[in-house]
Amino acid sequence: MKILFIGDIVGSPGRQIVRDRLRDIVAQRAIDLVIANGENSASGFGITPRLAQELLATGIDVLTGGNHSWDRKEILEYMPHEPRLLRPANFPEGNVGSGLFVGTAKNGVKFAVLNLMGRVFMTPLDDPFRKADSELAKVPPDVAFILVDMHAETTSEKLAMGWYLDGRVTAVVGTHTHVATADEHVLPGGTAFICDVGMSGPHGGVIGMDREGIIKKFIDGLPARFEVASGEIQMNCVLIETDDEGPRSASGRLKAHSIERLRFRID
Ligand code: FE2
Repeated sequence: MKILFIGDIVGSPGRQIVRDRLRDIVAQRAIDLVIANGENSASGFGITPRLAQELLATGIDVLTGGNHSWDRKEILEYMPHEPRLLRPANFPEGNVGSGLFVGTAKNGVKFAVLNLMGRVFMTPLDDPFRKADSELAKVPPDVAFILVDMHAETTSEKLAMGWYLDGRVTAVVGTHTHVATADEHVLPGGTAFICDVGMSGPHGGVIGMDREGIIKKFIDGLPARFEVASGEIQMNCVLIETDDEGPRSASGRLKAHSIERLRFRID
């Protein structure tokens, strides 16, 4: 089974490359399931109901979120009606939406996606490690494949989560920094891991935003309005292939056979 995970989709350039390229990539590589982080799709901050629908219509099966999940107020009403749009599970109890989705892929295989958020240099949320335990306990035993999007700032917190869940899920992929890391590998228990997938969006600025405004803010320290950058558009992804014939992990899930970084570009 092949699963494509697309890193943080930033603004209209990020949406454009997904719209232009995803169908061909899925067809050419015989991909069974597509998951993408969409928390920056609305001009870099949040996601709207219209954009969630637009992204799901491009062939994305599940959208994950992060610290920007709530930036657009209208998403609060929409979230309970669209279970394929996740937000981090470890936000305080009582918030709308869910961090866990259980569904069936095009090939008939049952899968789950869990969205978590780190706490280091970020909003102090509930413990993502204990939350992973309680959310994974809800996943039915016939689910073959589980992917975790660990939306976090530091490589250490993400790698710790990878090791914590090794053998219990098929993949732990990091998002949020918008910069791809070169550490993709399969952990000994069969969990594919990468610290950060990188982003899908314009690469002429600073992590997707116009560089002038960001540089100015670093110099003067004043509040600033950021615009989405221009420049070469990249779509950074990972392709995870499961070991369908080999033994399952101790938790009964498919082990990962490989994880590969993919980068697509348009000028
Ligand atoms: Fe983020």
